Amino acid sequence: MPRRMRHHWLLLGACGWVLLIVLFARKLINFNTRATDDYGEKAKVQILTQAKTIESKLAQTLEGTPKLSDPPSVGPSASVPTDWHTVEKRREALLSAVCNNSNDTLKKLTHTSVNTFVYDRIFVCDKHKILFCQTPKVGNTQWKKVLIVLNGVFSTVEEIPENLVHDHEKNGLPRLSSLNGTEIEKRLKTYFKFFIVRDPFERLISAFKDKFVKNPRFEPWYKHDIAPAIIRKYRKSHRDSNNKASAGLRFEDFIRYLGDETGRRHMDQQFGEHVIHWLTYVELCAPCEIQYSFIGHHETLEMDAPYILKAAGIERLVSYPTIPPGITHYNQTKVEHYFSGISKRDVKRLYAHYKGDFALFGYPRPDFLLN
Ligand SMILES: *[C@@H]1O[C@H](CO)[C@@H](O)[C@H](O)[C@H]1NC(C)=O
Ligand SMILES: *[C@@H]1O[C@H](CO)[C@@H](O)[C@H](O)[C@H]1NC(C)=O
Ligand SMILES: *[C@@H]1O[C@H](CO)[C@@H](O)[C@H](O)[C@H]1NC(C)=O
Repeated sequence: MPRRMRHHWLLLGACGWVLLIVLFARKLINFNTRATDDYGEKAKVQILTQAKTIESKLAQTLEGTPKLSDPPSVGPSASVPTDWHTVEKRREALLSAVCNNSNDTLKKLTHTSVNTFVYDRIFVCDKHKILFCQTPKVGNTQWKKVLIVLNGVFSTVEEIPENLVHDHEKNGLPRLSSLNGTEIEKRLKTYFKFFIVRDPFERLISAFKDKFVKNPRFEPWYKHDIAPAIIRKYRKSHRDSNNKASAGLRFEDFIRYLGDETGRRHMDQQFGEHVIHWLTYVELCAPCEIQYSFIGHHETLEMDAPYILKAAGIERLVSYPTIPPGITHYNQTKVEHYFSGISKRDVKRLYAHYKGDFALFGYPRPDFLLN
């Protein structure tokens, strides 16, 4: 009997080992397929298109860099092209050039005062000396999850309940504004600081859809307070706005409001913090005043996310959640579709307001909407 029992235990132990090995192997296989499947290929192709369109000035050198098209190496940083730091350097050079421009119009669009509003946008991870500036509609929820895990309140990204990510009382992710001046200064000087951007007009489309069409987080104030206020001031035909069937905010109302730089200021004060979903990156994060260590692009997130984790020294502690294929790609058809009913005059005003964001981060002027 004891002999049989021992057999049982041995068998059970062996099974445990096999299970562990299988799990480990599956992890490895998953990793490798992620790095080499056609999603990876797409990402590589995207680097080149990015170079052509987004970082157009620097495209020639980028395409001339042979390493960029090499297959990714196997290992923890497999999805970061070996010379992604040259992309970082180019972004830095462009940002610095645009920040230091002497054109008064562009100066106004690229500079802002660093105040409590900006400190409210920046989240602190003291344990690993990281600051993250929130730019809504650019996949920030995922980054916040990464930082919450790093701060130690939860041990994996998957464990964090969705409703807790944005509950800053409970998620253990303090804002820079919660600290005093000396403490803020110290962190701004020494911490790894980053944020993410995407094409400014695509971001506005995303904000419109998320807050005024779908509203998945049940934030009634967008449809019940903000939308009617915008419609009252910016809808051309008021007969329309009385008609119940067309009472919802239309993209053209939204665009007219966003492009009215002076007129909307008073409204924005009344709307309060909710406007962060369409304020410029300049207003949110002060990229010319605060020297960020890295500014990632949503369009190249497959490369930028692992690069950021590595640069911040946390790549072994946490991984960025899986990026669903296709969601980071810039979709000109979608942009054309949304802007198809908008007058040239309104698009021009809108562009004039967001021009700083286009210029600082190398997004090309959307000629297909403006010419
Ligand atoms: C400054 O920039 C604005 C907006 O881009 C442009 O219209 C204007 O011509 C520029 N001024 C000078 C002096 O270059
Ligand atoms: C700022 O906060 C730190 C840490 O809480 C504290 O030690 C320091 O005395 C504070 N400084 C001022 C000027 O209040
Ligand atoms: C781009 O957007 C259009 C219109 O919204 C959509 O039909 C199309 O599938 C999108 N293309 C890609 C590649 O996601």
